[in-house]
Amino acid sequence: MTNSIKHPIGIFDSGYGGLTILKEIRKALPQYDYIYLGDNARTPYGTRSFDVVYEYTRQSVFSLFEMGCELVILACNTASAKALRTIQQKDLPDKAPGKRVLGVIRPSAEVVIHRTKTGHVGILGTSGTVSSQSYVLELDKLSGGALTVVQEACPMWVPIVENNEIDTPGANYFVQKNLKALFEKDPLIDTVVLGCTHYPLLIRSIRQYLPGGIDIVEQGPIVAEKLLDYLHRHPEMEMRCSKNESIRYFTTEHAAVFSEKASVFLTEAVEAETLHL
Ligand code: DGL
Repeated sequence: MTNSIKHPIGIFDSGYGGLTILKEIRKALPQYDYIYLGDNARTPYGTRSFDVVYEYTRQSVFSLFEMGCELVILACNTASAKALRTIQQKDLPDKAPGKRVLGVIRPSAEVVIHRTKTGHVGILGTSGTVSSQSYVLELDKLSGGALTVVQEACPMWVPIVENNEIDTPGANYFVQKNLKALFEKDPLIDTVVLGCTHYPLLIRSIRQYLPGGIDIVEQGPIVAEKLLDYLHRHPEMEMRCSKNESIRYFTTEHAAVFSEKASVFLTEAVEAETLHL
């Protein structure tokens, strides 16, 4: 750890997906230091049980704390759905009072309620996010039950992204299949939430197979704006986040492989380091 980085903002995902969030956060808040951690060795999280996702996420968050992060963003819907609440309510008060962990589901839901006109919203997510019902519950609460929310789990999309198979016939096949299934459940949907941070990497395919006029909700810009707002409302945390415009990347898998793929996704050079959890 260089001396210039004291308290970076931690961005965590099970793999590459959180890079879509990191990119937008750095665009909106370039002055801060960041550490990105991808748990590529144990991805995907989307098909794993509640307990396993919680345990993996907890370990990752506490590693980021050990590296100096005061604030960690779970840039992963599955981790936000299955681990955030327990970490916030049990682990932080016990073991890391003063540190904060934020997720991506609530900020997305707050925006979605204002974007739909028909009141019919489609959620695309991992099996874990869909079965947790987190989006359905959150949207229900925020809209007072005024929205119709239908979900479709897309279990093949994360492996496609993790294996860099985007824009291939195989990727197109699965994207078309899941979008068709979503709209068969509810043809009145006018707003589709990409409720997994990996999915924006499939955006070309998604646009190709979505019916015209559908509003696609990508989380990157939303999470970035909500973080900006959070830091305004919490000056005590803002002051603790160091500002040297630096970024470090960690993966629980091969650093060279991560660097190569992340460079493609971010369209800039990335030099990752391996972290053993
Ligand atoms: N990117 C994660 C999300 O937003 C999940 C990917 C995975 O299944 O590991 O849900």
